[in-house]
Amino acid sequence: MGKVLVTGGTGYIGSHTVIELLKAGYEPVIVDNLCNSKIEVLNRIKLISGIKPKFYQIDVQDKEAMRRVFEENEIESIIHFAGLKSVGESVQKPQLYYDNNVGSSKVLIELMEEYGVHNIVFSSSATVYGNPKSVPIVETDPVGEAASPYGETKIIIEKMLMEYASTHKDANVALLRYFNPIGAHPSGVMGEYPTGIPNNLMPYITQVAVGTLKQLTVFGGDYPTRDGTCVRDYIHVVDLAVGHVYALHKLEEKPGLVIYNLGTGKGTTVLELVHAFEKANNMKINYVVGDRRPGDVTECYANCDKAYKEMGWKAELSIEEACRDSWNWQSKNPHGYE
Ligand code: NAD
Ligand code: UD1
Repeated sequence: MGKVLVTGGTGYIGSHTVIELLKAGYEPVIVDNLCNSKIEVLNRIKLISGIKPKFYQIDVQDKEAMRRVFEENEIESIIHFAGLKSVGESVQKPQLYYDNNVGSSKVLIELMEEYGVHNIVFSSSATVYGNPKSVPIVETDPVGEAASPYGETKIIIEKMLMEYASTHKDANVALLRYFNPIGAHPSGVMGEYPTGIPNNLMPYITQVAVGTLKQLTVFGGDYPTRDGTCVRDYIHVVDLAVGHVYALHKLEEKPGLVIYNLGTGKGTTVLELVHAFEKANNMKINYVVGDRRPGDVTECYANCDKAYKEMGWKAELSIEEACRDSWNWQSKNPHGYE
């Protein structure tokens, strides 16, 4: 149970993972440049766990500054969350996404070589499958055509790490392909608060619920699905966070390269999620069914058997619990960490 470098550790998924790492007896060392998160997260981690983890405000692309982290800490493994994740912004500013996401991963891989740190878990995404030919998606399904520069960075970084694994006999790499994380820590002190108007469904719902936004537009009601709206695999962020602890345990078995889908295995439509939120929190969400959003895939959900078979991990929490926890967080923190 050694030190784990957590890049992007003050972000949404990173912060929840830090809690689970502390619970499991690991010592997380966080690096984040705070470009999409708040320093206040560290206080919230302390509130939940009793521990304030070591934190460096550094851009992972800054190799010299990153060297200090490796010099000052005996890092045993890395969980690499740091990255920009807005699909729309990546279309506007592709170079920023290649520089930041690919650039920081390149620096990290060079430092792994330099300091002999061989274990890394990478935050990949279901987006690498592109428009899936069939659902549920299994890990052996082909990596598709990226729908955005954001998606392209995930495909490129996966390739870089695969090459790293194939050229370093001591390397252990876990590529985790997340489906749609939602929910928040059940304490209500940690959760997701995107800057600006949310692109993703759950934060949009909670901001309508709290009154920041007036109405949710459901993007398309004419898809060939059970109620005409798109199907996704919504996974509670705490389940996802726990998946990273299982992945670290897996890497301790020295498996070389492993790839896992992290989802629930269940598809939920947009309207089902809206109704689950209404039921879990006993309230109505003001919504209207509008046009399709360009680029959306009809159905995307995971087969997660491999993660269960090989790591013993599966999602335990329900959509209703995620809806309750999202609202608990949003209602107690209407302006996020501000
Ligand atoms: P987030 O934006 O909340 O967290 C990412 C963190 O990385 C932020 O705190 C940001 O400040 C930091 N960061 C970005 N670039 C950095 C850099 N160059 N140096 C240091 N810090 C940097 O996002 P999240 O939802 O927690 O996502 C974490 C990872 O998971 C990302 O790589 C994302 O692409 C991936 N992912 C997220 C989702 C999702 O729906 N949330 C789905 C699939 C994959
Ligand atoms: C997004 C990302 C994708 C990433 C995935 C998992 C986009 C275009 N894609 O896709 O790269 O891998 O998250 O994190 O952002 N919806 C509405 N109204 C809204 C918002 C969303 O109806 O206001 C619908 C969407 O049409 C979709 C579903 O809700 O059917 C989920 O949307 P979203 O949260 O953006 O996730 P993904 O589309 O899966």
